[in-house]
Amino acid sequence: MGESPPDKVTTTAGRLEQCGAAADTLGPFSAWSPGKVYTHMAHPVWFNGSLRSDEECMVHVRSHALHYGSAVFEGVRAYATPDGTQLFRLRDHLERLFWSASLYRIPVPYSREELHAACHEAVAASGLESAYLRPIVSRGDCGLGVIPAKMDVVDVAILVTNWGAYLGEEGREKGIRACITSWQRPAPNTIPPGAKAAGNYLSSQLIGLEARERGFDEGIALGTDGLLSEGAGENIFIAQDGVLYTPPVSSSILGGITRNTAIQLAADLDIPVREQALAREQIYQADEMFFTGTAVEITPVRQVDHLPIGGGEKGPLTSRLQDAFFGLFEGRTQDRWSWLEPVRR
Ligand SMILES: Cc1ncc(COP(=O)(O)O)c(C=O)c1O
Repeated sequence: MGESPPDKVTTTAGRLEQCGAAADTLGPFSAWSPGKVYTHMAHPVWFNGSLRSDEECMVHVRSHALHYGSAVFEGVRAYATPDGTQLFRLRDHLERLFWSASLYRIPVPYSREELHAACHEAVAASGLESAYLRPIVSRGDCGLGVIPAKMDVVDVAILVTNWGAYLGEEGREKGIRACITSWQRPAPNTIPPGAKAAGNYLSSQLIGLEARERGFDEGIALGTDGLLSEGAGENIFIAQDGVLYTPPVSSSILGGITRNTAIQLAADLDIPVREQALAREQIYQADEMFFTGTAVEITPVRQVDHLPIGGGEKGPLTSRLQDAFFGLFEGRTQDRWSWLEPVRR
């Protein structure tokens, strides 16, 4: 006979407390409660072909993705606009998802069109007016070997939740404080930073955790060549003398879809943009700096390593780009690129 089950379920935090590990293990994070940073709402999940409740979405404890990080995913936003809920650049995100999967030889068991329809279905079922979607393709129970014994055991899920400003409303308005971390981004010939694979986010976690432990809002990493790469989950832009600069895709970055949006909006606003390798000190000389990303949208950076960027507040080019970006969803910027598509209810 096995052990009798515990009479009540204990949370991870509770167990850590019981064994006295919380303070040592969590450091400054021991005071955090998940509710402070992330509000979870159980919306139906599109899982392997149909909408299901959380309890019905079973991923095996032997799943390859859990052991080896072999999942690829996307983060996509849907915005509440004057014309109803609209998905932003969904087709571009799906294109990157399929490309990331192909790099790791993960066969996606659905077509682009099927996943496109599934994203619409999942947002509509959530009833949310604005939403964050997380499509994820992960290797399942395909053997414990690093090289999967069965290549075609793959789960696909699309989670939908509400997610506000990633680094806070105030940060998005007034700017955040960042630092350059001691952790560097993986070199391009190690694991490809341009693919959005789950395993890559161990690097992002080290960068983001170190920054928060040191009291900053977010961390920025250099590449192994010593040049600027990107934030834990964001691309970087700096502005100097009216020109925007951003590291190229060869600088160990994820080629962000929001980065591309900012480049195209800047062209529309006659703001020159140069994709070029950047040295760390160029940050401290910059007039302005901002992050781009689906989670962070366009967020000004007002300070790096305790040094103010420009005047230490959101700069004029950042304001113009933010205005054009959020104008897409508020009806002020014409969507000439067909980036938005109404959710089919
Ligand atoms: C490491 C990293 N860089 C950049 C980005 C920005 O990419 P995107 O604008 O496509 O969301 C993200 C966001 O997912 C990211 O995780």
